[in-house]
Amino acid sequence: MANIHFRQFRDAATDTFSYLVGCGEMAQAAIIDPVASHVPLYLGVLRELGLRLGWVLETHLHSDHISAADTLRECTGARVATSWQAGIEEADRQLNDGDTLGVGHQGIDVIATPGHTPGCVTYRWADRLFTGDCLLIGGCGGIGEPHSNGIALFDSVTRRLLSQADEMLVFPGHCLDERRVSCIGEERERNPFFHGISRDRFVSVRASEPDRLPKAKPSVLEANRHCGRISETEKANQAGVKFYFD
Ligand SMILES: [Fe+2]
Repeated sequence: MANIHFRQFRDAATDTFSYLVGCGEMAQAAIIDPVASHVPLYLGVLRELGLRLGWVLETHLHSDHISAADTLRECTGARVATSWQAGIEEADRQLNDGDTLGVGHQGIDVIATPGHTPGCVTYRWADRLFTGDCLLIGGCGGIGEPHSNGIALFDSVTRRLLSQADEMLVFPGHCLDERRVSCIGEERERNPFFHGISRDRFVSVRASEPDRLPKAKPSVLEANRHCGRISETEKANQAGVKFYFD
């Protein structure tokens, strides 16, 4: 691919991965799952690369980190997009399965992958899948959040993601075991939650496994329903939030 830009960011506090994809020719970019505390970093990278931010894309309603969506929208004029089922009413565009968003000469396809939450989507850009908390490297998102559905998660991964080409790259929403990228062929062969596992078995195994991701925070969910917009008082409180792992 000619003249594309790609960056992966990691938030150390929550092990969240965020991504920037861009088209150099048209000087346009999208950011996926940005974290509020890293807005200066994103703006600096956009400036350095000479890109205008067109879209802020959420893979789902995050429960562990405050989204940077609203701040980036205010700073750059970008539009926020998320699944119509994510419960983020203030998003500028409510996405459906099969939609395509333009970023310069490139398209980002929307693949509905519900289960971890009803509004989870995976974004496909060129040879990369941004899977959010649906498919992780050697793992998958938890099913302990309100409205999680283990059967839907299994079907999303096996029918919508593992059916893609082997060489399709998997960029997840969280870092487990320090890996930053995988591919569909590897996940199909080696992911212990899905390889050789029936749907019923998956649901019982996943429900009994401790969730390795940060615990859900009600105040974070509430802020993210408003694209991550929080009051000054809440901002001060969030500064003291600590995250724990099981
Ligand atoms: Fe999540």
